[in-house]
Amino acid sequence: VHGANWSNFTKSLIMDKLEVFGARKLKGQIKISGSKNASLPILAATILSKKKIHLSNLPKVKDVETMIKLLESVGSKIKISKKKNSICINNNKKIKTFAPYSLVKTMRAGILVLGPMLARFGKAKVSLPGGCSIGTRPIDIHLKALKKLGTKYKIIDGYVHAFVKKRLKGAKIKFAKISVGATENLIIAASMADGISILSNCAIEPEIKDLVNFINKMGGKIKWIGRRTLKIHGVSDFVETEYKITQDRIEAGTYLIMAALTQSTLKINGIDPKIIKTEIDVLKKIGAKITLDKNKITISGNKIIKNINLKTAPYPGFPTDLQAQLMVLLCKAKKHSVITEEIFENRFMHVAELNRMGAKIKIKGNKAIIEGNTDFKGAELMATDLRASVSLILAALSAKGKSLINRTYHLDRGYEKIDIKLRKV
Ligand code: EPZ
Repeated sequence: VHGANWSNFTKSLIMDKLEVFGARKLKGQIKISGSKNASLPILAATILSKKKIHLSNLPKVKDVETMIKLLESVGSKIKISKKKNSICINNNKKIKTFAPYSLVKTMRAGILVLGPMLARFGKAKVSLPGGCSIGTRPIDIHLKALKKLGTKYKIIDGYVHAFVKKRLKGAKIKFAKISVGATENLIIAASMADGISILSNCAIEPEIKDLVNFINKMGGKIKWIGRRTLKIHGVSDFVETEYKITQDRIEAGTYLIMAALTQSTLKINGIDPKIIKTEIDVLKKIGAKITLDKNKITISGNKIIKNINLKTAPYPGFPTDLQAQLMVLLCKAKKHSVITEEIFENRFMHVAELNRMGAKIKIKGNKAIIEGNTDFKGAELMATDLRASVSLILAALSAKGKSLINRTYHLDRGYEKIDIKLRKV
């Protein structure tokens, strides 16, 4: 059965309002789902191969459904397999090398089909991702690097029209700025280019490592030859592959912060502590008690929450995707904290809503000065981007009284069954 099952499932999950009753202590266990930000580039990379690919541990979230729809719209045959959260993809037929605005505008990772389409078919017409609430989301770094591999492109009416004379040719590429998406697009494209490519100044998020492992399992030849440097031998054929998507470190970090905020003890299952070391260190500094097992983290929130100053940074720095969540926690510290957002130009959309709940946060450029000593009050709230939405839930759990959060469809984009997981604890 094609993607229908998948969308039915996520459709049943689409909420547009969420009522949260705080202040609540939580207890019990939360199981972490597969990583959204590993699933999206890996799904795009399946375009490279004519052979069957079985992916498991995909999170049932809207963005994954949108990427599945995008692949189906270009001609991929996709079956939801009986095994939980798994699909079988077959791209043996000719793929239409077109990604429409309607799909790419809601999920900017749609731009990741550009690299594989050029690598396998030598041409692509892909909509520009367009901005979102956190920033303009340009793709200049992607395009500059693809040009080095021999791509010619023009931007006409909001679409990238790109083509290659014969085949992409391996090249030496140094990214001017660390970019997760550009690194992913180029890893996928170079995997089928003629000859050897050296990519330096790469992003090294765990999701990138997962993409490299997936392509190598398919028959690719990619090697880390430096901390941020990859050597890629292009290949022209791949083998049938089964692959399990890695764990979602941002989902795990969100629930860890939730435990610290509500002074609860929670067991977070299905997460390797090694991939969220920075977040664990930050939470320990703030006062949480944390014990680590191989694939599980137990956290107990402390009554006293210590203030800290912190900057977001590319991995292994503190992730921008946990900035809004940490801000809520720091509102409960006794003294003031400063968070500096170094990655996106407009990622403080949650501040106005938090201030409406009683927080005292001032913004100066890319710095948020959080006064602390906040007693959150329940309120009616508006979600904006995926991670800001979940920060409103955190604040609502800590607030006395009821909160009503609108536009929670943002949540469905990246948090699998969040209402079910929260009700369970
Ligand atoms: C990925 O976005 C993630 N999305 C984001 O997660 C995450 O916040 C971001 O990486 C940073 O870690 C997915 O993995 C699907 P970038 P991406 O390219 O690839 C600028 C979430 O909540 N830039 O590393 O778009 C860009 O504007 C999402 O799950 C250029 O200037 O991030 C930004 O300021 C939100 N030119 C910075 O670099 C380019 O060509 C980092 O962007 C590309 C990026």
